[in-house]
Amino acid sequence: MDALETILTRRSIRKYKKQPISPEQVQKLLQVACQAPSAGNQQPWQFVLLDDRKILNVIHTFHPSAKMLTDADRAILVCGDLNLEKFKGYWMIDCAAATENILLAAHSLGLGACWLGLYPREARVAGMKKLLHLPSNIIPFALVALGHPAEIKAREDRYNQSRIHHNKW
Ligand SMILES: Cc1cc2nc3c(=O)[nH]c(=O)nc-3n(C[C@H](O)[C@H](O)[C@H](O)COP(=O)(O)O)c2cc1C
Repeated sequence: MDALETILTRRSIRKYKKQPISPEQVQKLLQVACQAPSAGNQQPWQFVLLDDRKILNVIHTFHPSAKMLTDADRAILVCGDLNLEKFKGYWMIDCAAATENILLAAHSLGLGACWLGLYPREARVAGMKKLLHLPSNIIPFALVALGHPAEIKAREDRYNQSRIHHNKW
């Protein structure tokens, strides 16, 4: 699948087969996450691999739309590290770029993935911090649920000409 096809056909996958993702695939997802653009190339991220069933099964108690994690093979937690931030206010934008890279690479590898928002929802951020004993400088930004897809979603064409402006509004 070429890059454009990957971008245009990626969908959120929330149903997964009971089939493990290979270590090579996990490594590839982490590699592309670290490859994301960031403000001034500050790379203010940290990633936590989650494959402990006890952890994956409890997250939905403080995250209202994370029930699919109980079926996911694993998840990657994308965090911002305030100690690595050189350009204030950009860490969450950089983390979003890293998260999108993971989603696109997962799709390109034939895996299913879904972005689960944490930041800026205070209860979700606090829940993840408490669950994983994260240090105060580490802000959980998003979870990416991962697994082999057990649902097929059609491409959606979202091109919207009314949102395109030319030289003036
Ligand atoms: C910032 C952000 C937060 C999201 N949070 C959740 C979430 O908590 N739970 C969920 O099931 N999907 C979540 N999603 C996935 C969106 O619902 C999904 O991307 C959107 O409906 C478009 O569908 P698609 O991903 O299949 O193209 C989130 C997506 C983004 C970008």
